[in-house]
Amino acid sequence: AKLLVLHGPNLNLLGTREPEVYGRTTLGQIDADLIQRAEKAGHQLDCFQSNAEHALVDRIQAAREDGTRFIVINPAAYTHTSVAVRDALAAVAIPFIEVHLSNPHTREPFRHTSYFSDLAVGVIAGFGADSYRYALDAALRRLGD
Ligand code: DQA
Repeated sequence: AKLLVLHGPNLNLLGTREPEVYGRTTLGQIDADLIQRAEKAGHQLDCFQSNAEHALVDRIQAAREDGTRFIVINPAAYTHTSVAVRDALAAVAIPFIEVHLSNPHTREPFRHTSYFSDLAVGVIAGFGADSYRYALDAALRRLGD
């Protein structure tokens, strides 16, 4: 099946961005690892990062047309602000897992709310780059392999 991994704003800077919070793994390394794992399991995975809310909305809308069966998304700062990205996920009705490298609940109060968690199949947060791996494992399980 087709899976989509979405990364929100500033995640293109992973590796150098506040490494004490987000780790030293780059986005390229995370994506390559996920693609390889999905392919090994007989699936196809596409990755997309944008700093722009509209580009994320457009990619989510496109996922309905391209047959995407499952989405893993780290909305980054849009987690706490974006009704538009939330509405796009609700519109396409593709099941998704919300992922965070850090555990937002241990951080500033404005990170304690999410526009996504109540729509998500589940939420994985606090395990650094491994959060994505765990989310992919859960997604593959859901797809029934
Ligand atoms: C994040 C947590 C968000 O609060 C923050 O704005 C990010 C990254 C995480 O992966 O820990 O950019 O989603």
